[in-house]
Amino acid sequence: MRKKIVAGNWKMNTLPAEGVELAQGVVAKSAEVCDCVNFIVCPPFTHLAQVAEALKGSKVELGAQNCAAEAKGAYTGEVAASMIAALGCKYVILGHSERRQYYGETSETLNKKMEQAYANGLTPIYCVGENLDEREAGNHFAVCKAQIEEVVFNLTEEQFKNLVIAYEPVWAIGTGKTATAEQAQEIHAYIREVLAAKFGELAAECPILYGGSCKPSNAAEIFAKEDVDGGLIGGAALKAEDFIAIGKGFMA
Ligand code: 13P
Repeated sequence: MRKKIVAGNWKMNTLPAEGVELAQGVVAKSAEVCDCVNFIVCPPFTHLAQVAEALKGSKVELGAQNCAAEAKGAYTGEVAASMIAALGCKYVILGHSERRQYYGETSETLNKKMEQAYANGLTPIYCVGENLDEREAGNHFAVCKAQIEEVVFNLTEEQFKNLVIAYEPVWAIGTGKTATAEQAQEIHAYIREVLAAKFGELAAECPILYGGSCKPSNAAEIFAKEDVDGGLIGGAALKAEDFIAIGKGFMA
């Protein structure tokens, strides 16, 4: 049985006090959802420590939104994987389309970040997904395949066992336009096939999350699909009630 995961990517939102309040709300409401659903929140670096404190003793886990490609040293402004691990993070989002697009992250950089994540006991949530032009040209399969082959195929089997993948079509992120449940299932099944070519039956154990305008009103339908194991949530993760309601999509 694959893990069911609902992860909140807060992006560059919330001040520390707001983040703590949001985390407390998520903790309080998480009791309404069966323990079979794993909730993760990924606040900005600046309040990871305070949010970790707010999550203590709850089933809600902590992740960061990025980490440096290097272990430590003269890299002004960067945050090392060891630092976020020391603050209590279990996960780190890597390869988000916003980082690929605005900060020029390439597969080469991401390979280094993945190594840093594993070296520090973190589980990467590795994001893949095509933009609108690529989807319209029918290249979405090839784009996702390349993003996986260039990074995930470099992992050992042991590392792969500790990986979460998020499929996030760029055209659905923050646009209100969600992929249909059928579109999500189609590409999730394809991604699993690509993973199986390298990792064999271990591919059946890898959680693949959907991300892109996922909200309480569409989560249940998307999560009902066989190869969709949860969601990576942006906007709707900023309200505890909506975030938890998305988790309830598994109970529908
Ligand atoms: P939205 O849910 O706001 O579309 O963002 C999705 C996302 O990018 C999560 O990483």
